[in-house]
Amino acid sequence: MMLHQSVLLLTAIVATLVCTSQASSNYGVDCSWPIHSKNLTCGNLLGDRKAIYEDYMEGCREHWGEKGRKRCNAAEADRLEMSRKQPQSMVNFTSTGFKKLKAPAKLWELLSEFWEENEDEQEIEEWFVGNVYTNNWAAPSYYIGVEDTELEGGGPDLRNEIWEAARPVLEEWTGRKLQPTSQYGIRIYTEGAILAPHVDRLPLVSSCIINVAQDVDEDWILEVYDRNDNAVNVTMEPGDMVLYESGSLMHGRPFALKGRYFANIFIHFEPTGEDLDGNAGRNEVVDDDFYPPYLLPNSPWLETWAQQNPSGWRRTSPSAASVGVPKAHAAAASGDVDALERLAFDDKESLSACDANGWTPLHEAARAGHLEVVQMLVEKQQVDINSLTNKGKGSSAYFIASQSHSPDHPVAKYLQSLGAINQGPEL
Ligand SMILES: *[C@@H]1O[C@H](CO)[C@@H](O)[C@H](O)[C@H]1NC(C)=O
Ligand SMILES: *[C@@H]1O[C@H](CO)[C@@H](O)[C@H](O)[C@H]1NC(C)=O
Ligand SMILES: *[C@@H]1O[C@H](CO)[C@@H](O)[C@H](O)[C@H]1NC(C)=O
Repeated sequence: MMLHQSVLLLTAIVATLVCTSQASSNYGVDCSWPIHSKNLTCGNLLGDRKAIYEDYMEGCREHWGEKGRKRCNAAEADRLEMSRKQPQSMVNFTSTGFKKLKAPAKLWELLSEFWEENEDEQEIEEWFVGNVYTNNWAAPSYYIGVEDTELEGGGPDLRNEIWEAARPVLEEWTGRKLQPTSQYGIRIYTEGAILAPHVDRLPLVSSCIINVAQDVDEDWILEVYDRNDNAVNVTMEPGDMVLYESGSLMHGRPFALKGRYFANIFIHFEPTGEDLDGNAGRNEVVDDDFYPPYLLPNSPWLETWAQQNPSGWRRTSPSAASVGVPKAHAAAASGDVDALERLAFDDKESLSACDANGWTPLHEAARAGHLEVVQMLVEKQQVDINSLTNKGKGSSAYFIASQSHSPDHPVAKYLQSLGAINQGPEL
């Protein structure tokens, strides 16, 4: 009898093992979507992924028209290059790279209340020209900004509370002190949405996603990779939180959303270089102060990072309001529309943020006379054309453009045509 039972048990175990190994096949990068190379390598294992990908890229090029064709291809080349070079250049702070858990009660309360109040206030999300991260042309995404003061409960305070409620979870997981770098959401994806697998731009390093609400027919899979480079499908329900090392872990949603919508928020931090006791952590390997403590010495991404951050990395805790400000200001001053469009994706708020003198990127662009930047900020990002520098005691962008150039300069004329005010500083 005993023997019989254990034989049955053994048979059951063997059957389970066999079933499991048949149900999930192992595959790595370049199967569900191009990650290192445009050549997909898994044949029909996941269906005709090549056709889906080609259709996606064609959708991008058609949507963005003449100018977009080039931009789609360039942004795609950029995505692949980052996927190849950035992960191997990063310090990994955890053994798995990702972890799913329930969002802490306080964080969930903040998000679910904000969602319930403002669910109907969704606005269509603007994407930069040539965006290849999501197929917004086929499946428009929507946005309700937790930072939006016009929404019930929204504003900088809520944003800070969200960072503070998420921070301990990520600090415990990474074993590092963290500082906020960006927050994006709530974004609402719709039927047919695909999110191309990618790594985030630095300094989006230690991050989490929280599913706030969904109405789906099937789980919308978040695809990540384990330390053996095998794809892992992660599923999420409202209240679930996925921690991930977003600068080194490939993540995306390559299988189209089946259902009405999926709403989530992204909360990002970067390690300060200290462990939880405030000592310099063991992984902080680049010891000159120029590079951040999460990039490896002699790694392929250092050069790109240095180009993008000419003044180096500073271990200061940026206040919520000033996150990303220097970058957006620098890009506006130098006429770098592409950089601003990327910031619109990573850190939209920085496009209207003030620097220490109360200047916004619009003021910088007006002073430098970059019409394309001014138009992009005004038309696509809807920044306030009449904001004044120096806490409202300074000048309007129109005034700055007229003074720095002339009232006939294209930037001045453009702002004038919109009815912008011509206000100089209070003396
Ligand atoms: C991808 O495939 C094309 C056509 O089959 C081939 O010419 C090219 O060398 C391949 N590229 C890589 C990186 O394998
Ligand atoms: C960090 O993790 C990523 C993703 O698992 C991996 O591709 C990369 O090689 C790792 N970096 C190092 C330096 O091991
Ligand atoms: C992930 O999900 C897709 C779509 O359902 C499926 O085809 C694939 O086999 C799954 N991959 C893994 C590793 O479980």
